[in-house]
Amino acid sequence: MEQSDVIIVGSGIAALQLLANLRRDMNVIVLTKSEVKMSNSFHAQGGVAAALAPEDDSYEHYIDTIEAGRGLNDPEAVSQLTRQAPSIIRELLEAGCAFDQDERGEIVLGREGSHRWNRIVHGGGDQTGKRLVDCLLQKVGANVSIKEHEFVFQLLTDEQGKCYGVRSKGRDGGINTYLAPHIVLATGGCGQLYAATSNAETVTGDGLALAYLAGAELVDMEFVQFHPTMLSINGDIKGLVTEAVRGEGAVLLDVSGRRIMKGVHPQEDLAARHIVAQTIYNYISQGRDVFLDITRIDDFTAKFPTVAKLCKAKGVDMTKGKIPVAPGAHFLMGGVKTDEAGRTTVDGLYAVGEVACTGVHGANRLASNSLLEGLVYGKRLAAHLNQQAWEVPRYHALSGNQEQPEIMLPAVMEIQQSMIERVGIMRTRSELRKQKEWLETFSIPENLDALSTSQISRVFMLITSWLITTSALARTESRGGHFREDFPNENSGWQQRHIRLQKNRKQG
Ligand code: SIN
Repeated sequence: MEQSDVIIVGSGIAALQLLANLRRDMNVIVLTKSEVKMSNSFHAQGGVAAALAPEDDSYEHYIDTIEAGRGLNDPEAVSQLTRQAPSIIRELLEAGCAFDQDERGEIVLGREGSHRWNRIVHGGGDQTGKRLVDCLLQKVGANVSIKEHEFVFQLLTDEQGKCYGVRSKGRDGGINTYLAPHIVLATGGCGQLYAATSNAETVTGDGLALAYLAGAELVDMEFVQFHPTMLSINGDIKGLVTEAVRGEGAVLLDVSGRRIMKGVHPQEDLAARHIVAQTIYNYISQGRDVFLDITRIDDFTAKFPTVAKLCKAKGVDMTKGKIPVAPGAHFLMGGVKTDEAGRTTVDGLYAVGEVACTGVHGANRLASNSLLEGLVYGKRLAAHLNQQAWEVPRYHALSGNQEQPEIMLPAVMEIQQSMIERVGIMRTRSELRKQKEWLETFSIPENLDALSTSQISRVFMLITSWLITTSALARTESRGGHFREDFPNENSGWQQRHIRLQKNRKQG
């Protein structure tokens, strides 16, 4: 058993920003189920949104964020996020983060969908996540112990419901216990619940399931963002083609060369993600391929080295200037409900980054607001924790149970395929019900001790899938990332309503 002041589960941008800002006299343990750089953050291409251009201001960033979120956002949270964005960027720059700058030393700002100004700060063209992670990792002090290949499978709570530790399985399958008065979930989202996704293999919704099992409230789980442009080879998704490519002038074409976004929305190829993704989906489901025409972009390889490398590796002939694309699950707007400091509804448990629902994204996240959220809220949670008094948590002896229970679980692919077919871009009551019933045929054991990490991972995938499906069934309207074919319009009655789920509490 090990003890520390703070335990952080996960190692993406929010976790690293938290680490960088925590007091150096605190002992911190980071538990990550894979390697420290195996996160969505590390692979993020787009960038960080901040109103830095002379013609721009935070209020316009605020308006664009609310518009993308279809009004479901928490206005105060959005206001704070967008106002803090410029100073967060300046701090990182001062800390040595290598954002792209012009010959005069000015930050180069790119454009992405639904932003009215060039507002996207990036590094190495499309290698922003790597630049940020490398910069923040350099700031990690000797007070931090990063433990890789530790799969957290249980949050420990006492009789009052306070979270005081975690249990994890190491590489050898042995169970380890870590105690701290403050436990932070920074595990990212759940893109891997879907057969088509931009997300890293590790992003399977663990933190969402852990929080649910520990009694925390989850909110807005029906809102899953599908990124419009994954590289698609013969129907298989091969990786992300950043929206910044469209920001630089690429357009979406059908097989006959017709622009598919013309006439669909005034912002055409840079319309909100759900609109572009739904349009592409409609083409593809009729058997019609869609391509990104990149011929208008000079020096494509220099500007987008990651995309160019991916295309080359997957056999796309870049000289033709056409990249075949399809949508894939990208980001969860909902998550573990937190307040402005990152506190969940469970005492001692915090959430930060994509696993959290802070209210900034509403029904659909504006491009490049996710790294921003991780940076702003990581810092904010550090400020909160830096002021807390420390108490040594009491350990309550657990009765171990290593008996292998009889358990029947579906294969990962079965979960992913059923989620994309029934709880994907287009949803209907009958398909959602079918999925919910199917998910409920699997019983979730109380005690996970004897299961392998691969079994526990599937248990967590089932729980998180159930949370999304249940919420999607309850919201009888379409808004942002949640589209119901049987309720295709936004309904003002739902404008201020949030679906909340909590174990042992009636849904509301
Ligand atoms: C992208 O590069 O297109 C993704 C960026 C984001 O999701 O904000």
